Amino acid sequence: MTSGPQVSGSRLASRFGLNDRVFATPAARRLVGKIEAGLERAEEQLAGDLHSTDELVDATARYLYEAGGKRVRPMLAMLSSQLGDGATDGVVKAARALELTHLGSLYHDDVMDEADRRRGVASAHAVWGNSIAILTGDVLFSRASVLMAELGPEAMKLQAETFERLVLGQMHETIGAGETDDPIEFYIRVLSDKTGSLIAAAAHAGALFSGADGRFHQPLRTFGEKVGVAFQLMDDVIDLSADPAETGKVPGTDLRAGVPTMPYLLLGEADPALKARIDDGVARIADGAAPAILDDCVEILRDHIVTARTRELATSWANEATAALEPLPRGGVREALTRFAGTLVDRDS
Ligand code: IPE
Ligand code: IPE
Ligand code: MG
Ligand code: MG
Repeated sequence: MTSGPQVSGSRLASRFGLNDRVFATPAARRLVGKIEAGLERAEEQLAGDLHSTDELVDATARYLYEAGGKRVRPMLAMLSSQLGDGATDGVVKAARALELTHLGSLYHDDVMDEADRRRGVASAHAVWGNSIAILTGDVLFSRASVLMAELGPEAMKLQAETFERLVLGQMHETIGAGETDDPIEFYIRVLSDKTGSLIAAAAHAGALFSGADGRFHQPLRTFGEKVGVAFQLMDDVIDLSADPAETGKVPGTDLRAGVPTMPYLLLGEADPALKARIDDGVARIADGAAPAILDDCVEILRDHIVTARTRELATSWANEATAALEPLPRGGVREALTRFAGTLVDRDS
């Protein structure tokens, strides 16, 4: 287990290469100090949010938080708050709540996806078992709800609606497309629900709790939603990455567990033979065969046209996201959000 957060608040922004890449224009550079100060406060307070007098919960809840993470959602909230009064106490509180929600969803997700590693460490269920991992996620959701309740009914509604979409996205991913659904459209909807919803909420919350002009709320939501789809499509590419040191995950985790990804779905038309080999491997792994039987398929898929196509799709969703920012005033925030979308689709972890 790690001994504390690996990255201090002041260095948070650079985790994502943000200083150099997101804040590349002079107007955006003027925002860096304010964003970092807000992130630092959120980070310090999150450490307190995760504390529990119950010794086991104290260890399990802090576990994945201390293991790493990019803090994408707090970062987005801080960015959009610069359209209003900046990182107010309300913005910081909402950012904490949304990061706690994200964190809780990771505990649950690794159980569902049978993923052994997360953020470079053994996943929580691999350490404590499924029940403790699920219950820890539940504690984190409860803590997020308390923070949102402190912000009032609008925040509670945002949290509840977002959480329902996240859960339904996970549920629809689990059930899979029906006979009458287009599998690709269905999958994009899943991505929008399970990931876009929370990222949209983060972009929205930054504006809402900083008193920014109400006309910016919907464009920021649309931006977050579409960036979330782009982000998740890149996650599918990263699942195939050869470099676990970079990703903190085992290459091909989703593929081997039979979790759908865009490259796999595109094989339906592009390369049915490879799809059949993967399906066969997934069935044999489910029957107890070693996950390594799919190593060669993971390698082939990594350099396959369908993976390049998934990258292109991610880029086009990121471009649509930035187009949604049109109603925002020109300046540092819009420039930084635009570059932020670019960095999300050009990432390794
Ligand atoms: C991982 O999200 C789960 C998805 C929704 C793709 P992140 O990539 O934001 O995970 P951390 O917080 O950096 O670990
Ligand atoms: C995680 O999605 C989404 C949520 C936790 C809601 P994935 O299962 O695709 O993400 P990773 O690859 O495990 O991070
Ligand atoms: Mg997963
Ligand atoms: Mg999953």
